[in-house]
Amino acid sequence: MKQTILILFLFIGLQSLFAQSDKTEQKIDKLLSKMTLEEKIGQLTLYTSGWDQTGPVLRDSYKEDVKSGRCGNLFNAHTAKYNYDLQKIAVEETRLGIPLLFGYDVIHGYKTIFPIPLAEACSWDLELTEKSARLAAKEATAGGLHWTFNPMVDIARDPRWGRIAEGAGEDPYLGSLIGVAKVKGIQGDDFSDKHTMLACVKHFAAYGAAQAGRDYHTVDMSDRTLREVYLPPYKAAIDAGAATVMTSFNEVDGVPASGSNYLLENILRKEWGFKGFIVTDYTSINEMVHHGFAADEKHAGELALNAGVDMDMQGAVFQNHLQESVKEGKVSEKDIDEAVRRILRYKHKLGLFEDPYRYSDEKREKEVMFSEEMMEHARDAGRKSIVLLKNEAVEGQPLLPLSKSTAKIALIGPLADNKEDVLGSWHASGDVSKVVTLRKALTDALPKAEITYIEGAKMDNNTEEGFEAAIEASKNADIVIMAIGENYRQNGEAASRSNLDLPGGQQALLEAIHAIGKPIITVVMAGRPLTISWMDENIPAIVNAWHLGTMAGPAIVDVLLGDYNPSAKLVITFPRNVGQIPIYYAMKNTGRPFKATDKYTSKYIDVPNEPLYPFGYGLSYTTYEYGDLKLNKTEIGMDETLEVSVKITNTGKVDGVETVQLYIRDLVGSTTRPVKDLKGFRQVKLKAGADETITFKLTSEDLKYYNQQMELVAEKGDFKVFVGSSSVDVMEADFTLK
Ligand code: NOJ
Repeated sequence: MKQTILILFLFIGLQSLFAQSDKTEQKIDKLLSKMTLEEKIGQLTLYTSGWDQTGPVLRDSYKEDVKSGRCGNLFNAHTAKYNYDLQKIAVEETRLGIPLLFGYDVIHGYKTIFPIPLAEACSWDLELTEKSARLAAKEATAGGLHWTFNPMVDIARDPRWGRIAEGAGEDPYLGSLIGVAKVKGIQGDDFSDKHTMLACVKHFAAYGAAQAGRDYHTVDMSDRTLREVYLPPYKAAIDAGAATVMTSFNEVDGVPASGSNYLLENILRKEWGFKGFIVTDYTSINEMVHHGFAADEKHAGELALNAGVDMDMQGAVFQNHLQESVKEGKVSEKDIDEAVRRILRYKHKLGLFEDPYRYSDEKREKEVMFSEEMMEHARDAGRKSIVLLKNEAVEGQPLLPLSKSTAKIALIGPLADNKEDVLGSWHASGDVSKVVTLRKALTDALPKAEITYIEGAKMDNNTEEGFEAAIEASKNADIVIMAIGENYRQNGEAASRSNLDLPGGQQALLEAIHAIGKPIITVVMAGRPLTISWMDENIPAIVNAWHLGTMAGPAIVDVLLGDYNPSAKLVITFPRNVGQIPIYYAMKNTGRPFKATDKYTSKYIDVPNEPLYPFGYGLSYTTYEYGDLKLNKTEIGMDETLEVSVKITNTGKVDGVETVQLYIRDLVGSTTRPVKDLKGFRQVKLKAGADETITFKLTSEDLKYYNQQMELVAEKGDFKVFVGSSSVDVMEADFTLK
């Protein structure tokens, strides 16, 4: 009986959903029938407002374009009031009154800035990630925004690429889960909720594989690598319901993404059934001319629309040329109608036709920005993103956590009292004045300590002017904390680097202070892994604190003083030097795996094959012991489940959170397989002395990959399973898939 009622309710629910969407479709039909071709193309057009600049500025006539109906969407326009005024133009001054859609790069916070995505990914905490996205959406929607160009799910294995800061690192499995968490956080489960924004999965596809790590550069890879490594996070985010997708700047296999039928039509729409709309990246239609793929902008526009692009970001190609292309029969008005329909559908879903101003509530805006909830979360996300890379004993005692009775501290470095750079390269509308620096937080936490702050060196030049004061302060201190790394312009878009050493005069300063012989803790704040081999050899304690956002200071101090026991683990391999790049844990074995006794094996003659710090690595103030690795069987059939259990014991003196990682290796495949492949992880909270046994489940689904015919299959054979605290520190067992 209960079941029948449930089914009945479900049926009625679905009916009303269909009726609703039927009604929406009818409304769109009606609207479309009234629209001129120019107005339709206006809906396919997205321009930046004059407020903010996130690329080259090509035009500043956006207000007139809105008024004439030639521009239906804006980005880089925000705040409740500013967007209200613009919306008013669209609603009251255009012929059809179609509301604008407002987009913005709310990547890791809107006003209150959370850790950069690469940092937050190191928390391996999906709930935290979802919450960050939710809270950012809460702030951004109160700031008049409907749409964020987030998540960026580009797998990146080359830290020279500045945009590595914006993604979740090198691994497709983890990257997919993080992408899903972000989509859930951004979109919630109801588009009509006024805290909901549309997500935009980007940059489709494989933008993170730019050759030599140089931004906007060519991408060339096998279809196998594309499908096994780069595509899974986009697909996962789309399966999670992401409303929109952004094309990438790069070409893949000779075809620029914005003109790629293979990527947009075949994979995205047909294979994956994507129903949302596709926007290009900034002027990437125009850029197909430079790529040598289109003769001129008009041709580029035709290629883009015919490949499946719905919306032209900033390039004005659709606006300038599509009408003529329709006349010439190069694109069909029917395809334009379809694209308009996809966009209008989301304006309907967001409730903008009913109330175009529902995101422009100044009272809500005031209440939400920098609220306690935001600031607390920023601090929590910050400390959970900090990776402790090294913590050696000095005089028999690990240097960290720092004793709260430390009397004299020299706080040195250009990031110690820096508000701007810790906000990271995509700091949206982050307010510098709200940033709590390391200096401020440390001074607040240790009111009795004598803390001498000296900037000491610059990040963007080699001046040694501040060295003397820094050395003097260090000589007088019990301990030196050096806050060094990158400024926000040294990573992110258009900020690739060929040298990943500490920029400016920082390395020289570090060496000069080291020469004094005082114990040093380095706090490295950067948007990417830096090559810190010298630091690793010479400095006893290294805290990798990335760019953590508004509450960077308190988050770092929580870790330095042991109020938070560090738990983050690297989601990106740290190379020893730039020559090792690309270096990632899921490498192939090669036909000549390295053997010290054999010259003719795969290696460098001047640097080991191993990275400085591997994927999955990160220390804690406690220690964990792994034991009792058990499999419930050593053979499984295609429909069976393998259970892998392991006991983890907190063997140290403080409570902690450990991320237990599970990897597999397929020993013989019809195509070669990586030496390790992440397939699961679990976070366990363990009190000092406590233990817990956890069980992972694996099925043949987890063992699938692309065979020579490019079919996704699980092949029978022998596997290794590894469980441990990083991609290197593991226990292993064997099993067979029958
Ligand atoms: C270019 C960037 O590649 C993209 O990530 C961003 O969303 C757009 N500019 C808009 O700012």
